Amino acid sequence: MKILITGSNGMLGHDLINVLDERHDLILTTSKIMDITNKKQTIEYICNVKPDIVINSAAYTDVDGCEEKHELAYRVNGEGVGNLALACREVDCPLVHISTDYVFDGSATEPIQEDGEIGPISIYGKSKLKGEEAIQEILDKYFIVRTAWLYGINGRNFPKTMLELAENHSEITVVYDEVGTPTYTLDLARGIGELIETDYYGIYHLTNSGSCSWCEFAKYIFEIAGKDVNVIPVTASEFARPAPRPSYSVLENKNWIEKGFKPLRDYKDAIKEYIELII
Ligand SMILES: NC(=O)c1ccc[n+]([C@@H]2O[C@H](COP(=O)([O-])OP(=O)(O)OC[C@H]3O[C@@H](n4cnc5c(N)ncnc54)[C@H](OP(=O)(O)O)[C@@H]3O)[C@@H](O)[C@H]2O)c1
Repeated sequence: MKILITGSNGMLGHDLINVLDERHDLILTTSKIMDITNKKQTIEYICNVKPDIVINSAAYTDVDGCEEKHELAYRVNGEGVGNLALACREVDCPLVHISTDYVFDGSATEPIQEDGEIGPISIYGKSKLKGEEAIQEILDKYFIVRTAWLYGINGRNFPKTMLELAENHSEITVVYDEVGTPTYTLDLARGIGELIETDYYGIYHLTNSGSCSWCEFAKYIFEIAGKDVNVIPVTASEFARPAPRPSYSVLENKNWIEKGFKPLRDYKDAIKEYIELII
């Protein structure tokens, strides 16, 4: 297939290339080549390339930055996604779009299904929801893939930050009252690779299996990496950040399983492989 990948310099973009390059003809775009906030450029570019499918991993992903730069957040994560959907409609190709657990408000107490009640509490979450809505308005053939707590080789992420802090801290405070599922971009990219072989359009939750708090995740990272760091649990309100985060956002991968796909491996197995790779 001829696959156009946006955000190809990003963390997920990197692993999408790793996973898809061998079997497919990839057209890789960055904001320099095709700025998704530029409607004319985006439509012209996609009409020119005529891909069989577009995978959108481009986004403004600085969750705290979004609180300050509202306009940019909505422009990239909302309107930009709408532009991609319009372009896909022009060439009649499906769009795979990556969304987030931050479209939920965190009040759930058990894993959230795809049709769970939406209610973003941050500008990032609200802007990502705008993107989801635009796609559903414009296209019939789409895969909206909500994922969570990503880490990968190519980008800044929680495990890397923890390992950096461990270099010169013997004690680290980490939030314990936010629970989710850390997800390895390599596993997510493999999942997307399977999904695009089908026409099972719709909304998917796709994460590694299991769940933990940031605090439990940090402890596990130090255990695997053999770092002797004392992790001190704190509440999210003690650890002030500009953007509020959902306190519980475990995503039940219901649609994924019902369509016959294999659950992604446990987050503990995935992070173990990742840590062994980077240290
Ligand atoms: N990171 C997480 O924990 C997380 C969790 C849940 C969901 N997600 C979603 O997963 C997807 C991938 O996340 P990621 O962490 O891999 O993101 P990332 O590393 O921040 O990469 C996003 C890429 O988007 C590109 N981009 C930004 N503005 C653009 C524009 N106007 N036009 C075209 N490209 C633009 C940037 O590339 P340039 O160099 O081209 O500017 C950047 O490389 C995103 O949709 C994100 O919302 C992420």
